[in-house]
Amino acid sequence: DWIMGNYIEEAVARIRDQVGDEEVILGLSGGVDSSVAAALIHRAIGDQLTCVFVDHGLLRLNEGQMVMDMFAGRLHAKVVHVDAAAQFMGHLKGVTDPEQKRKIIGREFVEVFQAEAKKLSNAKWLAQGTIYPDVVESGGTKTKKATTIKSHHNVGGLPETLGLKLLEPLRELFKDEVRELGVALGLPPDMVYRHPFPGPGLGVRILGEVKPEFADLLKRADAIFIEELRSTIEPNSGKSWYDLTSQAFTVFLPVKSVGVMGDGRTYDYVVALRAVQTSDFMTADWAELPYSLLKKVSSRIINEVRGINRVTYDVSSKPPATIEWE
Ligand code: XMP
Repeated sequence: DWIMGNYIEEAVARIRDQVGDEEVILGLSGGVDSSVAAALIHRAIGDQLTCVFVDHGLLRLNEGQMVMDMFAGRLHAKVVHVDAAAQFMGHLKGVTDPEQKRKIIGREFVEVFQAEAKKLSNAKWLAQGTIYPDVVESGGTKTKKATTIKSHHNVGGLPETLGLKLLEPLRELFKDEVRELGVALGLPPDMVYRHPFPGPGLGVRILGEVKPEFADLLKRADAIFIEELRSTIEPNSGKSWYDLTSQAFTVFLPVKSVGVMGDGRTYDYVVALRAVQTSDFMTADWAELPYSLLKKVSSRIINEVRGINRVTYDVSSKPPATIEWE
């Protein structure tokens, strides 16, 4: 709309003014904030921006491809796609502790990004999708309790050791403003209104040791769950169950149970479906999804994803459970 159009013009002018003819790098994660920051900065300075997309192999099904299609394909932005899946998997081998896994993923992320950044030796700026609530949080105004339960890691945590100046054009915006800005910049609403996704990605949704074959099963099961949530409309509100939930995903349980398929016995893995409603993610209720929806998702996962023969639904609220399982 008109107001957002004005805002974009001002923000673009400010970025051009700040950066001049210098080069900028930005870590693209597939998340909303870094995507909107990238689109805005690209609008301002075009090829002076290089995005570095570190793909740790623990993103959702086809997410890496979607990020590339959007930024390299449609926006014609310069994007370096680093396929670091094997490297991440290698470092996660044998590791079962959730906090340890978070640390490894966070550390590797910084390492891979830094190595790419060094190659772009002309860059003078590091752009980040820091938004207003992040600024407030790191100022210590918010309670730190959540971080003692889980050490959250996200792309914002890149070190100052790169010796780059910081460019943070979303610093004054709230999440809903960031989303509006994203749409105004031409990003698809589906991408901009996505449920939050943790920095360590599927690394904390595969319980215990992360293995490539587990990640593969989980991605396919989760894609089915999300597809059904998006396509099932709740008649009273006219909204999809995806929009009626704050976060929904699938968790891989490294546990085998017995099943029967055709004439044969199966002995395969279990997944849990998780869907919650919350306004602040500090407390959350499990979502009362319709049985018909759960039924369809369950039978599709078991029929379409060979290797999973049992689907459960998580009916725990936060507290005492957390939203993620690790
Ligand atoms: P919990 O599981 O603590 O999650 O109830 C609350 C919200 O935080 C997200 N979450 C993370 N986000 N890095 C992130 O960027 C993390 O390590 C992380 N752990 C949890 C979770 O998805 C939920 O939205």
